[in-house]
Amino acid sequence: MSQIPPLGGRLVERLVDADRRRQLEAQITDMPVLKLPERECCDVEMLAIGAFSPLDGFMGEADFHLVCDEMKLAGGGLPWSVPITCSTDKETADGLEIGQSICLTDEQDRPLAVLHLREKFRHDKQKECEKVYRTSDAAHPGVKVTMSQGDICLAGPIEVLTANHDPEFVEHRLPPARTRAAFAERGWSTVVAFQTRNPIHRAHEYLTKCALEICDGLLIHPLVGQTQAGDIPADVRMACYRKLIDGYYNPQRTMLSVMPSAMRYAGPREAILHAIVRRNYGCSHFIVGRDHAGVGNYYGTYDAQKIFDQVDPAAATGVGIVPLKFEHTVWCNRCEGMVSAKTCPHGQADHVFLSGTKVREMLTRGERPPTEFTRPEIADILIASMKQ
Ligand code: ADX
Repeated sequence: MSQIPPLGGRLVERLVDADRRRQLEAQITDMPVLKLPERECCDVEMLAIGAFSPLDGFMGEADFHLVCDEMKLAGGGLPWSVPITCSTDKETADGLEIGQSICLTDEQDRPLAVLHLREKFRHDKQKECEKVYRTSDAAHPGVKVTMSQGDICLAGPIEVLTANHDPEFVEHRLPPARTRAAFAERGWSTVVAFQTRNPIHRAHEYLTKCALEICDGLLIHPLVGQTQAGDIPADVRMACYRKLIDGYYNPQRTMLSVMPSAMRYAGPREAILHAIVRRNYGCSHFIVGRDHAGVGNYYGTYDAQKIFDQVDPAAATGVGIVPLKFEHTVWCNRCEGMVSAKTCPHGQADHVFLSGTKVREMLTRGERPPTEFTRPEIADILIASMKQ
């Protein structure tokens, strides 16, 4: 049984072993310290576990520009769509020398990793926003985080001491090597990954089950790193996923695991990143529905699907995981099932469509949305969480 190789051919894991960790711990007391904001802490964990293979640390200038301009890494042309950078202010950067090792800490000052500084370069945030987010509107949550980052990027390989000091959902926090082993153990040669940052509503359930019809296994892979205020917290979502999987998914064919990445809300560019990362986890297929990783009205409904055509999936340097593209799906009262414009001859009058805002309002009032939109068990978990 052959499994899809990670991007670049092998998993690049930056978490060090116990001996190296002891060595580094003895050295970090003499190192300059840089406190990372939440997005970069999530990136350190992704690098630690090999989810960002082939990256071995924070990107240098050539990668930064090529990723922004052409969605490629320098030196080999592997696809990559979003810069992974570590930045600081100019004054701090001026005090650091190339070749120096820097202790990276989390927001509570706990050491996470050591960065071996190879390069310092100007963080062209404007360019990053325009190319990656397709907007420089400060109201965009990804733009907001990027604009709050430092003006100078510090680049180089990292060695990770502790991937995360407060990991949640430990039994579901499998690194790529472990999901790969789990798929092999189950005899799954094709596995479809489902990225999500929401509770699973009927539309999500439909997509995942349609996809599972043509694959051996399904990996429900919620993003549990940094999200924006207003998104449903990961612990509430996890309660929803567990409930739904227990009640409505075949346990022989379904796995729940979490992805510790930060959400960037970069729509199409993030869809490519999400796909590459799921390839690293060993998945062969990836669900891309309507407005994947989108926010507000920044992206067209199917932009995140179209962008895959700009990266040839069949080429040696392509994304290499098959995107399964789904149209906007809703419940149709006349078909009595989930449909899309592709499958249903009826019109909007027969379709149960609710906006996110409307659903939130109902849940806040303690009202269950229609069962055609979300299963009652899930609605009840969400209603209870909103009362807290
Ligand atoms: S996302 O930020 O992770 O994309 P969400 O959790 O809502 O947000 O969506 C997970 C996946 O389901 C994405 O691929 C998204 O495009 C898809 N999706 C969500 N709702 C629908 C829908 N009604 N029809 C088709 N695809 C959908």
